[in-house]
Amino acid sequence: MNKFSFIVLVLSITTISAQSKDKEKEEFECPPNSGNGNFADPVTCRRFYQCVDGYPYLNRCPSGLYFDDVQKFCTFKDEAKCGPIATTASPVTEAPSDIAQRCNPAECELPYCYCSKDGTNIPKDLNAEDIPQMILLTFDGAVNHNNYPQYMKVLGGKYTNPNGCPIKGTFFISHEYSNYLHIQNLSYTGHEIAVETISLQQGLQDKGYEEWVGEMIGMREILRHFSNISNSEINGMRAPFLKPGRNTQYKVIEDFGFIYDSSIVVPPNKVPSWPYTLDYKIPHECKSGTCPTKTFPGVWEVPLNTHYVESFEGGICPYLDQCVLHNHDPEEVLEWLQEDFSRYYEQNKAPYMMAFHTNWFQIKELEQGLHKFLEWATSLPDVWFVTTTQALQWITDPKRNKELNTFDAWDCRKQTTQTQRPCYNGNKCGLAFKSGNVTDTRYMETCRECPNKFPWLGDSEGTGISGRDNYIYQSKEPAPSEENENEKK
Ligand SMILES: *[C@@H]1O[C@H](CO)[C@@H](O)[C@H](O)[C@H]1NC(C)=O
Ligand SMILES: *[C@@H]1O[C@H](CO)[C@@H](O)[C@H](O)[C@H]1NC(C)=O
Ligand SMILES: *[C@@H]1O[C@H](CO)[C@@H](O)[C@H](O)[C@H]1NC(C)=O
Repeated sequence: MNKFSFIVLVLSITTISAQSKDKEKEEFECPPNSGNGNFADPVTCRRFYQCVDGYPYLNRCPSGLYFDDVQKFCTFKDEAKCGPIATTASPVTEAPSDIAQRCNPAECELPYCYCSKDGTNIPKDLNAEDIPQMILLTFDGAVNHNNYPQYMKVLGGKYTNPNGCPIKGTFFISHEYSNYLHIQNLSYTGHEIAVETISLQQGLQDKGYEEWVGEMIGMREILRHFSNISNSEINGMRAPFLKPGRNTQYKVIEDFGFIYDSSIVVPPNKVPSWPYTLDYKIPHECKSGTCPTKTFPGVWEVPLNTHYVESFEGGICPYLDQCVLHNHDPEEVLEWLQEDFSRYYEQNKAPYMMAFHTNWFQIKELEQGLHKFLEWATSLPDVWFVTTTQALQWITDPKRNKELNTFDAWDCRKQTTQTQRPCYNGNKCGLAFKSGNVTDTRYMETCRECPNKFPWLGDSEGTGISGRDNYIYQSKEPAPSEENENEKK
């Protein structure tokens, strides 16, 4: 799967922190018919508004910088043309076709586009009995000494797929408390590394473009720098708390060359949903209320189908650890998972996503129940535990069961990672970390040299110069004018 665009990391001055909760927001109205963009705050040039779909997000320039209403970014005081400056430029209007329409299968063809009326169709209309049942194990949050041994019990090679390769999983990494030596080892051994965010801040779904870029591209940069994982191996993202960032987050996905998102929850349905591209409207209800509404051609959504059993015992949950199974013994946990799984396996074989936080592994019965499930599921001839990217490789080019032993994308002997073999002993770095007005210490392990400061938003390499990073993308197609202006700098 090729990336359609790539980014250049430019070390520069513009990091913008959104302050969307501020009261002033209410008083500013985005100019009608002017499309998206940045607008001067009439009150002060220390701030500006970013309009996205007519909604104003208040942003503050980094300390020492001022908003230039001609160039539309923050710069030094003596260079900034303070706004608002009347403009005679022709208004940018967005084509109405931008709003996603209902799936039109006649115009949506694999490998670039996939949709079906209610989201439950098997790609290429294959028969369920001919295709594999994919299981996606995903792990969210930090990876560190507290959970790495438990994750290795699952993914360390004990369980294998029908082709003899060890089962694989996907990690959506957040930064704080992560151990970058462990993450490097996971990548090196064929597990997929994807990004959540640097800070796991609440309320990100209401923030602007710069904030999403800072969190997600910053996280990708940290992984590149401290775990030797190149950008081209990081294909996916997941919004914290499964609160997608409306169209803003998906614009980041598009601009920075990600292949998929996995943040959207499908409500409990009789038949589970297959992944789809965002060329068309989402084929199910959006419970979070913050799903994208525009079309993002070719961007994949690998949704989280809600887990539940017929009796609703244990409740309903996208993350397995959010169902209430604590009072179950391992055998009952196994039975619960089997019943939930059979809704996929016996119907349309949509990928079965088992999404976990570390919490699951802190309860013995749940951990043991999972191992019973893994033993059982890996004994089935048509069940494959694959990474999210491997699942998309199958979906974009579906194969029947009998072809799978020669399917290169799932063959560990055919795979190469660009990630360097991890060192034996990492550097254990104790780093200063300022949160609020307290300076704390955070520990971080990496094969790289220890940085000066704990890496954070705007300073992914931990140089100690905050606001040092500025991420600008380049794509094959002409960039929208706003980004062109940034690039001139
Ligand atoms: C990396 O993973 C391999 C295989 O799972 C394991 O044997 C090794 O101890 C791990 N190394 C580190 C540094 O965690
Ligand atoms: C990974 O490490 C190798 C060897 O040190 C280096 O050549 C390569 O540039 C690194 N890749 C990334 C993405 O940091
Ligand atoms: C920061 O310092 C002020 C004054 O010393 C104190 O009142 C406040 O609680 C502190 N905030 C945090 C987050 O520690």
